[in-house]
Amino acid sequence: MRIPDDTIERIKQAADIVEVVGDFVSLKKRGSNYIACCPFHNEKSPSFNVNPARQIYKCFGCGKAGDSVRFVMDVENIGYGEALRFLAKKYGIEIEEQAPTPEDLLRQNERESLYIVLNFAKTYFRDLLNSHEEGQSIGLSYFRERGFTTPTIDAFDLGYSLNSWDGLLQEAEKRGYSRDLLEKAGLILNKEGDSEAKRKVFDRFRGRVMFPIHNVSGRVIAFGARILVNDKNQPKYLNSPETDAYHKSQVLYGIYQAKQTIRQEDVCYLTEGYTDVISLHQAGIKNVVASSGTSLTVEQIRLISRFTPNVTILYDGDAAGIKAALRGLDLVLDEGLNVSIVTLPDGEDPDSYVRRVGAEAFKTYIKTKASDFIRFKTETLLRDAGDNPFKRAEVLGEVVSSIVRIPDALQRQIFFKTTAQQLRVDEQTLISEGNRLIREKRDKQQKDDQRQRDRDGRRPAATDGGQSNSSLADINALLAEAGISSPDQAGPPDDFFSDDYIPASAPAPTTRLQRAQRTALSYQEEECIRLLLNYGSRELEPGITLCQYILAEIADIDFQTAPYDLMIRLYREAFLHGDILTADNFLDRADSPDAQREAITLTTPRHEISDGWLKHEIIVPSEEDLKILSDAAYGNILRIKKMIAEERMLAIRRNIVEATDPDESDRLMAEYMRYKAIDVEIAKLLGTVISG
Ligand code: UTP
Ligand code: MN
Repeated sequence: MRIPDDTIERIKQAADIVEVVGDFVSLKKRGSNYIACCPFHNEKSPSFNVNPARQIYKCFGCGKAGDSVRFVMDVENIGYGEALRFLAKKYGIEIEEQAPTPEDLLRQNERESLYIVLNFAKTYFRDLLNSHEEGQSIGLSYFRERGFTTPTIDAFDLGYSLNSWDGLLQEAEKRGYSRDLLEKAGLILNKEGDSEAKRKVFDRFRGRVMFPIHNVSGRVIAFGARILVNDKNQPKYLNSPETDAYHKSQVLYGIYQAKQTIRQEDVCYLTEGYTDVISLHQAGIKNVVASSGTSLTVEQIRLISRFTPNVTILYDGDAAGIKAALRGLDLVLDEGLNVSIVTLPDGEDPDSYVRRVGAEAFKTYIKTKASDFIRFKTETLLRDAGDNPFKRAEVLGEVVSSIVRIPDALQRQIFFKTTAQQLRVDEQTLISEGNRLIREKRDKQQKDDQRQRDRDGRRPAATDGGQSNSSLADINALLAEAGISSPDQAGPPDDFFSDDYIPASAPAPTTRLQRAQRTALSYQEEECIRLLLNYGSRELEPGITLCQYILAEIADIDFQTAPYDLMIRLYREAFLHGDILTADNFLDRADSPDAQREAITLTTPRHEISDGWLKHEIIVPSEEDLKILSDAAYGNILRIKKMIAEERMLAIRRNIVEATDPDESDRLMAEYMRYKAIDVEIAKLLGTVISG
């Protein structure tokens, strides 16, 4: 089916570049031209230009350029003929096309024929709803009951599918649509290969009200279909499968009906359901779309950002998946969108709530309850974490990792400030954590930049495998970066367990470590070993033993006190083979009398309890309580790291005094500040751990 040349000419004459482009992106006048953020690549400041005099567009960022037809082809990802039809429809230009014959359909490209058959189905369902007896008595009365008016039903092309096996199939075949095409459009199911099936080819949607899903330019690309009876064996909504026309992850329900208002209001409301979109639209809140029960994708976000940088997400009052959804929302931050979140009252979704309180109260609710994403995330995670120090520390890391994804530096600063208040930690703590994450990200991208790493002598141990507490892991990385980790800590020498092993520098056996010789750190090392000996195989969280937790957290740290250093190495060695040592494992080690003695002492209750300094560090009787045990392990690790950081700071201070080169002392100063930040952060974290 060719479009006559003079019709093409008329279409091109009518299709004003500013109008056509303006349907997809929000244009701003700049001199005699218009500018916008380019719809073809992701950018934060506009480099996309439209020149009305020459009727062309050009993006100085990605280089795309052309006229109206080319723009529609690119933005809709369609062919030349289809772009012309699209524009003809927009400008009411008639193309002398006959009803498609099967031969015509075959000749057209596949996607175009999908659109055509989907459009046929839309009209078919719509007519059933409005004119067929069953459609009226069942479908239309259902919509009426839900309060949908005729203009609303029309605006969304709502329809009804007959409760029969092949209503659509028969009608479609009568008009020359092939079964193959109907199947490819997701409209029928074809089980011809299955001889058991009674019915071999039949309609996918039967006895349901139909919600056509439009793409941004208004073409129907899929359907959602709601059941009208209570039937536990069938889903409430049946949706079209993925087809060449419908890629669920790229579509937002209602975008076609909403785009104009989104641009005007400069904000897009994001809901979860079809009926939420429709009800709000009817109430006059038209800048609303739905993700249709899936989690938000990058493509969907980019679709929104064609029209506005502002998104307000409306969550159902009882939405169970909010926490899971939060993680996905970091994507939105990446794209530079401003995200607000509103949780509706318990048990309400936008549809029910707007019907109950009306449009004005609804708008007021959104205005007063909208909370920016970072604040909302912090609140939600904190509520979930309760008093659990592991989880609270996780919240900090989690939220900072969101903040650093915000492209705008000024916005980041504001979020650091407000979040610090929320978490009741020092703002500088968040900033340095954030800066570190940013740096880490950058370093990852510039893997070739070896110089940076060489300066510190070794590669930062970015050990964040997602398993261990993230902010602790980050502290590890920092400590490692500053040279605290020991790369050669492979465990004890291979022959350690053989009988003739003699330690190279075996410490002389002593009765107990002399108090005067001991550093504060050595007490923490002792405490660490004590916890391992007594509770190594206790699970702090399902699947995470105390031993595993501690070893992961101090993986980069060597102990400084002889017997404990040896013992921790033995723990590491054993753990590599899946074993968790107990005191018994040390008892028959005549080769290490110190370790032997410590193993006994530390598993004998109430050791050292008379020592005043130690008293508040050790929680003896109630350690059977998992929470107290967790706190003890967590606190111990934090204290070890804090002491190492402090030691390090002391050393740097000495170096600063001695430094003669100003660059060197700047570098040392920066390093010092970094440790200072760690120190402060750990102190805060320690503040969340109850100490006996
Ligand atoms: P809801 O269960 O919240 O439905 O699912 P709803 O939109 O409020 O519908 P009503 O008010 O009961 O009629 C939210 C969205 O999740 C998708 C649909 O897109 C729905 O709008 N969904 C839900 C499905 O795709 N299949 C289902 O079985 C259920
Ligand atoms: Mn609902």
